[in-house]
Amino acid sequence: MTTAVSSSTGPFLDQAERWTAHNYHPLPVVIASGEGAWVTDVDGRRYLDCLAGYSALNFGHRHPALIAAAHAQLDRITLTSRAFVHDQFGPFCEELAALCGKDLVLPMNTGAEAVETAIKVARKWGYKVKGVPDGQATIVVAADNFHGRTTTIISFSTDPDARADYGPYTPGFRIVPYGDLDALTSAIDDTTVAVLIEPIQGEAGVLVPPPDYLPGVRAVCTSRDVLFIADEVQSGLGRTGSTFASSPVVPDMYVLGKALGGGIVPVSAVAASHDILGVLRPGEHGSTFGGNPLACAVARAVIALLNTGEFQANARTVGAHLHERLNALVGHGLTAVRGRGLWAGIDIDPALMTGRQACEALLARGVLAKDTHGSTLRLAPPLHVTAEEVDVAVDALQAVLKS
Ligand SMILES: Cc1ncc(COP(=O)(O)O)c(C=O)c1O
Repeated sequence: MTTAVSSSTGPFLDQAERWTAHNYHPLPVVIASGEGAWVTDVDGRRYLDCLAGYSALNFGHRHPALIAAAHAQLDRITLTSRAFVHDQFGPFCEELAALCGKDLVLPMNTGAEAVETAIKVARKWGYKVKGVPDGQATIVVAADNFHGRTTTIISFSTDPDARADYGPYTPGFRIVPYGDLDALTSAIDDTTVAVLIEPIQGEAGVLVPPPDYLPGVRAVCTSRDVLFIADEVQSGLGRTGSTFASSPVVPDMYVLGKALGGGIVPVSAVAASHDILGVLRPGEHGSTFGGNPLACAVARAVIALLNTGEFQANARTVGAHLHERLNALVGHGLTAVRGRGLWAGIDIDPALMTGRQACEALLARGVLAKDTHGSTLRLAPPLHVTAEEVDVAVDALQAVLKS
């Protein structure tokens, strides 16, 4: 099915195509407004948002509590830089540390910056605390990872689209298959300062590791004096039905982003103990915008929403409904369904259509989703979505698979 492009949509699409680098391949829809789990395009057509900003919109579009926090802060002060302390900073750090059960947090802006922060902190911890010889630190990572787009991060990507043509690459990373505890254990030696993994691999297609994997990673990191860094940028903050997807396993460092900014401003952070984040001294790391007053005010409202537990609970119950309905489609157009909570990776039978074609057909039926790796779709609606709204999405998918 092809998507009809309206006379109002066309010029916006053409202008975007003409004036931006082609580093994305967006679906042909031009969004003008959003509320809750729904967005409206320039023609007034409504769509159920099942991408939710790659989980940056866990609380939906323009959640009233988040918008109120942003408005209130816009009327007071938005940026100070970390050269001065502002009145949202301490409360934000304390509240996020409490949410994570950690001593300290370090705020940044994007997920990639937070991952970079985690890598730098782990290396410094390795030299100053663990006693790794200078310049020798290694970090064990997983194949098919997605941790962001900086030069260092793509140096340990196994995705040719992300990596090719951007060398020379940053050394110091060992790549092992995801979910393979033996391989991970074998890759650790005395130079290893950290294991950096996603508790569930999002971009790879919502890959859930075997149940004994994260507890095993925790145990080997503890026994080998290696930091366990969990990149929860996409998996964290309620998406899987708990605040952190790694739960009940507790990593040494959380890397957070996306939903922390409430879909309003980019906010990311790492959270860890004094022993780890305490290695940083003034001037050694920073960001002009990291921890700004607007970001902190919005993120505090995000943390307050998470502290109610309502979003995690809804992700569990409505997520169970989502998975039940999706699993019923395996063998009827889907070849596999993976995931947890309100997060699903579904594989479309490649004999039927590509993932892109499925997304275009869903768009025509009023559902927004995005493909990854050929025939996989990720479904990640906002966490307050209802079972009825999930039915709207799955009914549309079912119709697309039959068409
Ligand atoms: C697990 C994970 N880490 C890091 C990132 C990078 O975040 P950002 O795009 O905000 O830099 C992403 C983005 O999708 C992600 O999924």
